Amino acid sequence: MIDISHKIKTLRTAVAQATLKVSPETITRIQHNNVPKGNPLEVAKVAAVQAAKHTSGIIPYCHPLPVDFVGVEFEMNKHVIEIRTTVKAIYKTGVEMEALTAASVAALTMYDMLKMFDDEMEITGVKLVSKTGGKSQFGKPVSASLRAAVLVLSDSVSAGKKEDSSGRLIQERLKSFGVKVTDYKVIADDRERIEIQLKQYADKQKLDLVVTTGGTGFGPRDNAPEAIAHVIEREAPGIVETARVYGQERTPLAMLSRAKAGVRGTTLIISMPGSRKAVAESLDALFPAVLHAFAMIAGGSH
Ligand code: MTE
Repeated sequence: MIDISHKIKTLRTAVAQATLKVSPETITRIQHNNVPKGNPLEVAKVAAVQAAKHTSGIIPYCHPLPVDFVGVEFEMNKHVIEIRTTVKAIYKTGVEMEALTAASVAALTMYDMLKMFDDEMEITGVKLVSKTGGKSQFGKPVSASLRAAVLVLSDSVSAGKKEDSSGRLIQERLKSFGVKVTDYKVIADDRERIEIQLKQYADKQKLDLVVTTGGTGFGPRDNAPEAIAHVIEREAPGIVETARVYGQERTPLAMLSRAKAGVRGTTLIISMPGSRKAVAESLDALFPAVLHAFAMIAGGSH
């Protein structure tokens, strides 16, 4: 089973379809409610709902997920019954397997109910019609031309007493999203020094994004939030709230970060805590969805 514990929850939908070929007499029997085992459409509907909810118990690598909705529709013509299933869930994985399992089980249920008088029946196809949510919707890199800086705020790293690993991780992850990291610096936790550096990135270099790491806690030298608050023109509380909520579901210490984010000119500044684990979690929480900000900052729609 794939580890999905790092993934964020989003609304996922999937529509699947199964096609059952039957004889014209079978269609007539269904229309006249003349099937000894009962109404196949009603029974198949219930079977599909149950199948969607039990998919993880049937398909080995499927994760159990909270199904919010299962819809089942039928369309009949002379020879064919089309079954269309819709599944919705707010979760970390797609729900296409739920929709496909529901459609398959609905087709099998009808096959079982109708096989006593129809030997021509055949399930001719089961397919995914559409899916939304997740990577396919939010995961595409927004622009390959974004320029960013990574700023490590740490007395000990800047004094050479400790190696930086968090800033390197941010660099790697930004590159993986197609963002060009044009500057990487380690500076001490001096509020004024931080402000000067951030202004330089925003006003002189006109970078799109600055990600800082460290200095967001309650220590006497944790100056990042105050420096950022002083430099930004518009705050972006949703960004840091999202990172904190995500973090809090994984560690009770996430609330101890006072990280701030906001925009100065056309530069988005995001701060993250200092530990590599906190940075990894913050990146998982925010990226790539946060990259949609840049189209808006540039005056367009996202
Ligand atoms: N957030 C996440 N997601 N994961 C973490 O492990 N660590 C916390 C918190 N935020 C953590 C986290 C801890 S232990 C502290 S002290 C604060 O961030 C502040 O960290 P900083 O002073 O290095 O910025």
